[in-house]
Formats: sequence, C-alpha cells, structure tokens
Amino acid sequence: MEMVKIFDTTLRDGEQSPGASMNTEEKIKLAIQLEKLGVDIIEAGFAAASPGDYEAISRISQTLKKTTICSLARAIPRDIETAARALEKAQSKRIHTFIATSPIHMEYKLKMQPNEVLKRAIEAVKLAKSYCEDVEFSCEDACRSDIGFLKEVALAVIEAGATTLNLPDTVGYRLPFEIGCIIREMKQCVGESAILSVHCHNDLGLAVANAIAGIQNGARQVECTINGLGERAGNTALEEVVMILKTRQDVFEDLDTRINTKEIYACSKLVADITGICPQPNKAIVGKNAFAHESGIHQDGMLKHRETYEIMKRSDIGIPENNGLVLGKHSGRAAFKDKLESLGFSGISQESLDAAFERFKILCDRKKEVYDEDIRSIMTEESTKIPQVFELVSLQISTCSSGFPYAAICIQKDNGQKVDAAIGNGSVDAILKTIDRISGYNGVLKDYKVEAVSEGKDALAKVVVKVEFDPNKPAVIGHGLHLDTCQATAKAYLGALNSYLCMKELIVTKKMR
Ligand code: KIV
Ligand code: ZN
Repeated sequence: MEMVKIFDTTLRDGEQSPGASMNTEEKIKLAIQLEKLGVDIIEAGFAAASPGDYEAISRISQTLKKTTICSLARAIPRDIETAARALEKAQSKRIHTFIATSPIHMEYKLKMQPNEVLKRAIEAVKLAKSYCEDVEFSCEDACRSDIGFLKEVALAVIEAGATTLNLPDTVGYRLPFEIGCIIREMKQCVGESAILSVHCHNDLGLAVANAIAGIQNGARQVECTINGLGERAGNTALEEVVMILKTRQDVFEDLDTRINTKEIYACSKLVADITGICPQPNKAIVGKNAFAHESGIHQDGMLKHRETYEIMKRSDIGIPENNGLVLGKHSGRAAFKDKLESLGFSGISQESLDAAFERFKILCDRKKEVYDEDIRSIMTEESTKIPQVFELVSLQISTCSSGFPYAAICIQKDNGQKVDAAIGNGSVDAILKTIDRISGYNGVLKDYKVEAVSEGKDALAKVVVKVEFDPNKPAVIGHGLHLDTCQATAKAYLGALNSYLCMKELIVTKKMR
C-alpha cells in the first residue's frame, strides 16, 4: 500500500473562513482531536500573522507527540524565523513557505519579475531548511501559472531542500481533468525527488473532485480541512477525500491513509461547536441527513438489506447508532466519564471533568432527557475555557408586547461584583447594552446564531456571537450554552469579551518580550 498523506489545515486555511476564528484553548483541543483522527501533518497556523497564531502553534508543538506540526510562512526571512521559533518544541516539525507564481499574482500583487520570485523562493527554502529538515514549498496560484515556470521553480526549490511541493488551486478555478494534467506533468518533471501535494479551493464546488484527480495522477499529499472549512467557498473536505479512498478501494486499490475514520464524526462536531459553522444538512459524510432515509421505498430496502441504499456505515464514521439518549440523574461520575470517553473526550483534566459533571447533574434535574449532544456541548465548553475576566452572576429580564424590554445584570470581575440595567429594542439588545455599560467595552454585534442542541421543548440553547470590540482588530467569537436562551446570550457575549481581552493580553505580553 502507498500512503496518501493527510495534511490538515483547519487551524490555518480553515480559520480563514469568515467567522471561524478560534481561541488558543479551542485550537489545542482541536489539534488533540486531529491527532486522534490520525492526520499526518497539522498546519497549526501562520506564526507571523498574529501573536494568537504564534501562541497556538507553540502550545500545540508542546502538546502533541506524534503528529508533524507545521507553520505557514511567506517567503520572507522574518516569517520563516518566527515560524521556526514557534515550532521549536515540536517533536516533529515542518515549515511551509510560499510565494505566488502566476502572472496575475506576480504582476499585480507582488509587483515582481519571475526571476525575482524564483530567487526569493530558493532563499526562503534554504533559510527554512537551516531550521528544519521537513520543508514544504507552495507555488501560490500554481494552477494558473505557466507550467514551464512552475517546473523551473519546482526543480530549484527541491534542489534548495524542499521535501514537499504543493501546487494549490488557490482560486478554485480548475476542472478535475485539468488538475490531473498539471499534476501528471509535474510528477514527470520532479519524479521521486519530492512529494507532490494538492490544495484545492471550492469556488466552483470542485475541491474534492480536483484533489482526487490530483491523487490519481501522482499527488501523495492532500491539504484539506474538517467540514471543508476555508477561505471563501472553502477547501477540500478531509472527510470526503478519506471516505472516497476507503469506499472505492476497487479504484484506489494500492492507496491508503492513516486516518481512523471512526473519529471523523467527533472531529466534525468539534469544529462545528467551536466555530459555530455547522455543515449543511445534506453535506456528504457528516451532514445531519447523510445517513437519513426518508422515502418509504428506501426505508423498506434498508430494512431488507442495508447495502441496497447505503454505501458506507454510520459506524465507520463514528456516528452513534441510536439518537444518543443517555445517562440520567442517578448516573455516577464513572458512568459519566465512560460516556465522555465514548464521545471521544479523553485526557480531560480533573477540573474540567468536575465542572462538567456538576453541570450535567444540574441539567438532569431540569431536563427530562439528556442526550449525547448535550454532554458533548457541555464538555466542549468546559475543555476550551479561557480565563474569565468577566463572569455572569445573574440575569433578570423583562419583556412585554408594549413598553420597553429591559435587562438587569450582575457581573463578577476580580473580587468585586457590579450591577446595572438597560432598556433595549428587545431582550437581546437589552442584555448586550447592559453588559457594555458594566464592562466599559462597546461591542458591535456582527453575527448572532441560536440553535437547539437536541430535540424537545426543554432543549439546551446554544448561542454563538461574533463581536467586534475594536475596528482595527478581528472580530471574536463567543459561545453560550444554557436552558434559557437569554442566559445563553449573555454568556456568549461575555465569552467573546473574555476572548478579546485574552487576545489583547497576548499582544501586550508579546510587545514586552
Ligand atoms: O490557497 C493557497 O494558495 C494557500 C497557500 C498559502 C498554500 O492557502
Ligand atoms: Zn488555501
């Protein structure tokens, strides 16, 4: 069997999705889950892009033991040196440096001649190689580049020390047969001197098909993301590529990946929980309806013989067989821990376990049935907690069909508590205005989403907000989970504020260093 390397870029290209930013604790949690999934390389961020990225790469490098950790770096010395520093503690590391090679990017974006681009590429790879044996070079916008120039760059960077050559379809323009031709021609050019990699964007909905065409023509690394997250229309969906190779072993008979497919569902759920971006219901492999059979004829066929209408098993992806009705108020700590492990949460700190167990018990008292999804959401929130500068103590709201809705809130900060109230256009507006008055920060709400975690009128509400606290800084995401939607809203908004303050703290610490 020949291995196709799975290079996961959920934490870098995926995080470039509008609204998908993650805090450091969330990134570490996801990196641990990706290691369990068995990806070969995790692109943990772009170290020079922000102190948050640097911190996440450095902490992931210290946490993971098996997977290769990678940082992206432009082909400039400062980026490469920063990437090398962030990766210092990794057991296995890679620097991924890139520069654009297409005429349109060279002329309008870089304002450089091809010979200058070639020189910069060689210098970048040589510098990266001085820090790290494993160096990847990407020709950005490779698939709109002149193939002759692409070959010249490829041979030169491999000579300089690149071990993987990535040929991205940066704008998602190509068709599968075109990607196939490019990869075949490049394979003939470089032979076995480097691993060829594909990185396909989904602007025309062809990212997965293009990646597969690349594999069929000699690519042995695929860059992809969980749930297909990524810039604009996204990147190649990891779960789709992996399940195509597995399900169609008749076609890809000598190819395999190191992925433990039973961890796919847990990864997909975690990414959706953290980013608040859920795959569409009909999304292949991980969509809510991917294994649902609605029509009578299909259901009848399924009951007679599953394979009449199903080409994969839900269990292969790690989807629970029942609707996940679980433990009740009499369940003990051991059963709770067992359940967490079956949901893919292992290596949980005692502190997070205790906090989650306490919340589970309270939930059992207040909710008729507790589902796997309730427990998964509570645990994700507990295990990705960041320092709580502001914490909700109590919330009282009043809403009516005429008159003014208002909120009265008490918030804990350091050792003191502060209470205030405000009126708003509705309950949400009143809550956010009151928090602004108490905290002294004035957030601009960019997005607000609420969904029920499970079925039933008494379901937990999950609120995700995207808030801008400073127009010169990226907006931050906050999550809130509660049986009451207003309480969940207040928690989500405070979560975003805490995330923003954490990010600010990082910037200050970096400046002091
Ligand atoms: O899409 C792209 O070209 C990229 C590169 C930086 C690898 O993300
Ligand atoms: Zn990309």
